[in-house]
Amino acid sequence: MKILLIGSGGREHALAWKLSQSPLCEQLICAPGNAGICEIADCVNIAADDIVGLVDFALSEAVNFVVVGPEVPLAQGLVDELAKKGVAVFGPTEQAAMLESSKAFTKDFCTRHNIPTAKYDVFTDLDDAKAYLGEMSAPYVIKADGLAAGKGVVIAETKAEAEAELAEFFSGKFGEAGACVVIEEFMRGHEISFFALADGKMVLPLCEAQDHKRAYDGDKGPNTGGMGAYSPVPGFEGPGFTDTARIMDEILIPTVRGMAAEDNPFVGVLFAGLMMTAEGPKLIEYNVRFGDPECQVLMRRMKTDLLELMVLAAKGRLVDAKTVQWHKDSVVNVVMAAQGYPGPYNKGETIKGVDAANLMDGVKVFHAGTVRGDDGLLKSAGGRVLNITASGKTIEQAVARAYTAIDDAIIWPGGFVRRDIAKQALNNNNSNQKQ
Ligand code: AMP
Ligand code: GLY
Repeated sequence: MKILLIGSGGREHALAWKLSQSPLCEQLICAPGNAGICEIADCVNIAADDIVGLVDFALSEAVNFVVVGPEVPLAQGLVDELAKKGVAVFGPTEQAAMLESSKAFTKDFCTRHNIPTAKYDVFTDLDDAKAYLGEMSAPYVIKADGLAAGKGVVIAETKAEAEAELAEFFSGKFGEAGACVVIEEFMRGHEISFFALADGKMVLPLCEAQDHKRAYDGDKGPNTGGMGAYSPVPGFEGPGFTDTARIMDEILIPTVRGMAAEDNPFVGVLFAGLMMTAEGPKLIEYNVRFGDPECQVLMRRMKTDLLELMVLAAKGRLVDAKTVQWHKDSVVNVVMAAQGYPGPYNKGETIKGVDAANLMDGVKVFHAGTVRGDDGLLKSAGGRVLNITASGKTIEQAVARAYTAIDDAIIWPGGFVRRDIAKQALNNNNSNQKQ
């Protein structure tokens, strides 16, 4: 099969690496890709949100199957446009992608289908929203309805702060995305990412991963797309725990059934942001694609042929899939970002040592914002730049290998990493930690 993968991040490099190992994959093309992806796929310079350009390319190149990495083209209807032209594709339609692109849609959907989530209400009027604060207690969770690149959520410690934030939301801080606001109850517990594949009717569980959302050590600093991840998460499942079963029975299965019942079948990756509360797992939010940096650790752990699963899902035939197999090792991913990220940062800085890092035991570097310079050297070209993944017999070993690669192999003075990725797993202290 001729496969077209859409995207250019670390998630897409990990997907490209995994898809290219499939016996079903004869040619892998990536739009637009990055310097790392270009080493294993044919990259074509079409932006991930250029829907017309991508559809034209898929048709003219007679692509057999399209895999969409990021959420923006999904929310813009890329899957619908490809399907109209008869191109097979793995991912949700624009309407099904509302599970990520509209928080209000998802909260109302959870109510209709009895899916556990924080108590909430939806507002399009500032005074109504302020009045609702009186019914809630601090801290107050305020969310823009639409996609806001992970920045549309504010947790206000006091009512005055919440009121000031609401005024900003309604005065256009997030543009259209913030014209509708969700206010919800603050949930306490351990936050975790859980991934599954859906084919419109059934859902196949993959596994859990732990993200690190804040920019700096100790969960300080601004929220980012994610500064590191690990999987499996110690203590998540084991003798006496039934978390995967509860997540499936109470959250994911009712979601896929509910979407089908509402004539809005969901095909693609279902990524549940969950809070493991004292009462059990509750949904924080859905994403309709793999997480980045979580995908990188999942792909290194997965033994099963992902492409085969995606093709089955797109055909509505996940019932034919075998159980997903995983390598035994733990995997950690430490993101190297440009100093200043998630604020302004430099681009075009030379990075050396990636090949040396890749030769180290258990280490695999996935690129994110990188380009190959005219001088043939690797250059930084984004906020998150490299993903240093490492596997190990234990999580301690995986963490040590990743940081050794960063310290002894990678040469990039303009980059920074968090030094505490997976520290909470090393401390074996998974209770009541909020990322
Ligand atoms: P979201 O974009 O909805 O995932 O929210 C971003 C982050 O805000 C989440 O990853 C949580 O850390 C936090 N958060 C969101 N909603 C809640 C909630 N109801 N209770 C506690 N924390 C929350
Ligand atoms: N790492 C979280 C996300 O991809 O949304």
